[in-house]
Amino acid sequence: MARAGALVLFGVTGDLARKMLLPALYHLTADGRLDLPVIGVAKTDLDLDGLIEHAREACGGVHDAAFDKLAGNLRLVAGDYGDPGTFERLREEAEGKGFLVHYLAVPPALFSPVAEGLAAVGLNRDARLVVEKPFGHDLASARELNDDLLRHFDEDHLRRVDHFLGKEPVEDLMVFRFANTLLEPIWNRSHIRSVQITMAEDFDVRDRGAFYDANGTVRDVVQNHLLQLLAILAMDPPPSTDARAQLDEKWRVLRAVQALNPADVVRGQYDGYLGTDGVRPGSTTETFVALRAYIDNWRWAGVPWCIRSGKALPTTDLEVVAELRRPPVTMFGNGGAPESPNLIRFRLQPDAGVTFDLLAKEPGKQHARPVPVSVDFTKVLGPMEAAYERILTDAVSGDPRRFARFDLVEESWRIVQPVLDAQDKPLPYEKGSWGPEPAEKIPPGGWHEISTTFD
Ligand code: BG6
Repeated sequence: MARAGALVLFGVTGDLARKMLLPALYHLTADGRLDLPVIGVAKTDLDLDGLIEHAREACGGVHDAAFDKLAGNLRLVAGDYGDPGTFERLREEAEGKGFLVHYLAVPPALFSPVAEGLAAVGLNRDARLVVEKPFGHDLASARELNDDLLRHFDEDHLRRVDHFLGKEPVEDLMVFRFANTLLEPIWNRSHIRSVQITMAEDFDVRDRGAFYDANGTVRDVVQNHLLQLLAILAMDPPPSTDARAQLDEKWRVLRAVQALNPADVVRGQYDGYLGTDGVRPGSTTETFVALRAYIDNWRWAGVPWCIRSGKALPTTDLEVVAELRRPPVTMFGNGGAPESPNLIRFRLQPDAGVTFDLLAKEPGKQHARPVPVSVDFTKVLGPMEAAYERILTDAVSGDPRRFARFDLVEESWRIVQPVLDAQDKPLPYEKGSWGPEPAEKIPPGGWHEISTTFD
């Protein structure tokens, strides 16, 4: 895997660069983990000094040696992506800098034109192309985009960003599963009754009306982030530690996920969404989804994997709850009712950790009640790296494991495609609620309340 001699950042003056990529580059520079030319490309009136000031602001207005170092590494090629002259100037700027990593932080409609512009001046050789999400709009357009990019870069030199794969708590799921032996024997259909994944956001679509309306929750977070998460949770142990082995196992489990049955899906739209700037009148785009997926393999057959996500929900949290089957005989239920099930909770955001809901005897009584046994990883292990720091580090080094390989992307689109095809009207829900009422019935026995915090 070739290490980059220079990073070419398309869209250097855009939103993603300002919010995520420039601050990540600054932190990596400050930690001494990145020191290479960063060639920004953008359609902009700024000159290099202007770009440096823009970057300084993006990094919180810093004045320190780390920023000076980053500023010293910055270059700028200003121009339109449709103008061959832009790519000619980029070629001159990149001359002699070695292997290039082209990072496309630009709207997806520009992925193919930029790849073509690069190829026209030979900058697709000795180079890797990194593209942001979304990768396609459905299965057919994802395949079309992939074919376009493959004309200029082969799969080994293509990286598709899914920033959830850069999140340490997401990767920690794999560590938790495969570095400990206590979970694996019970991590299957014999012991797990259901798995519930909740990605809740308490804010609405804000100023992203036009983007959001063209996508909706399924395209925005389920096809990519949440199916990647499901793959990490459900996959078999990879036979070795190399990236390919991991990616192959993720593919194997996604391959076994049934295409969603629209009857197992509830789509919702929060009240007031239609009044948002950029949203089409009468739009049927969902801002909430709850769904039940099934994995047809020996480990998971018959176990519902329930996913819910949405905007304007009561809280901002990412949590996985696995519900274990109850004991075959009730001995310590309250008033003869079955005991509460054991739960294993993985908290992924905003804090990270694990909680086991175990049963213990209620003092003075003959029945048991759930008691949480928790560990807060941040308290015990210290702060975690930001997702984009890890994504950029891997973009530069070339390690593919935290990117979405195309066969995985393809499977994810296959899984959600029936929901995209059946665009009935979403059910209304109140802002600040947990979505439309029928969503409650998606998991057997309803959703477990999420823990929201360790304290
Ligand atoms: C993005 C979606 O990919 O992920 C957003 O477009 C969503 O709608 C965001 O809010 C969530 O990411 P994070 O890292 O803030 O949890």
